[in-house]
Amino acid sequence: MTPIDLRSDTVTAPDATMRKAMAAAEVGDDVFGDDPTVRRLEERAAERIGKPAALFVPSGCMANLIAVMAQAPAGSEILVGSRSHIHTAEAGAYARLAQVNKWPLAEDAQGRLDPDAVRAAIHVGYGLPGGNSHLPTTSLLCLENTHNFCGGAVQNAADMRAAADAARSRAPWIKVHLDGARLFNAAVALGVSSKSLAEAADSVSFCLSKGLGAPVGSLVCGSRDLIVQAHALRKMLGGGMRQAGVLAACGLLALEEDNVARLAEDHAHARRLAEGLAALPGISADPAAVRTNILFFEYRGPKGDAAWLQRALEAEGVRCLALGARLRMVTHRDVSGAQIDEALRAAARVLGKA
Ligand SMILES: Cc1ncc(COP(=O)(O)O)c(C=O)c1O
Repeated sequence: MTPIDLRSDTVTAPDATMRKAMAAAEVGDDVFGDDPTVRRLEERAAERIGKPAALFVPSGCMANLIAVMAQAPAGSEILVGSRSHIHTAEAGAYARLAQVNKWPLAEDAQGRLDPDAVRAAIHVGYGLPGGNSHLPTTSLLCLENTHNFCGGAVQNAADMRAAADAARSRAPWIKVHLDGARLFNAAVALGVSSKSLAEAADSVSFCLSKGLGAPVGSLVCGSRDLIVQAHALRKMLGGGMRQAGVLAACGLLALEEDNVARLAEDHAHARRLAEGLAALPGISADPAAVRTNILFFEYRGPKGDAAWLQRALEAEGVRCLALGARLRMVTHRDVSGAQIDEALRAAARVLGKA
């Protein structure tokens, strides 16, 4: 039996249309800027995000790292959410490669940063007239939407604008980066354009390889100057991909309107999953908090903990991730409504309710 894989939306495999587009893609050497399909993807991405330019890169982690390195000088400080992907799950790249200091701020349940806390955290440090020589200078504020470890939480444009304005009101040089790995999920959940959610940010990264279903790739979007720098940084980090048009062809399909709109189905599946799980013994899940395709819940029961439940579900053909005391399930286009029902039946069997 094929497992029902709810570990992440990154597990989606390219469908037949994507595979056909890969075979037919016009390609060139993208490091020389010669790949027409990559160029079309970058133009399309820039348009969808409402920024002048974009750069195709191998991963979301590299997209974030490039955006940070392009805007935060070595030795400066960046403000990040304490549960953000940048702070918790990018292999310490910001210390080792970007050479910046991270200053974590607590997010609320919706993944938002409190504007007053942002304002208070800004450091006017060395290198600036009157700056405090004990402190690095804050150069960048990083936001995340949807917020992965806040359970796919969504913030609206006004929330992000409030945090960005708070930062800039205290320090006009500050740039704002939005980790929008799943920005299209946020746009669909809120019923707004991806552009409107990107407005407050100087740079935006988003992934094609998650719910949008492409096999590989992310984009960094921003001003033309920023993307010129991003191009050099991508080279430096080893992210130049030569005939990447075979991947960009999938990215173009991933960004088509109907493929974006179908993310709503994943959101409905995640909500249904949460409702079903919440009714099972030992599980704490809050279906009302599920806004997009990510669901976190806790389990503690007579038979064990989160790690035990992960193993027990795996034995029943349902894959998910135990992350500390919590379990994560992520819905995506390779999981059907019938498989959601099957996953719930498996969970009921494991927990002795079937
Ligand atoms: C919010 C967020 N940002 C960045 C990334 C990194 O993306 P990638 O796995 O493509 O490097 C992820 C991956 O799950 C993510 O959830």
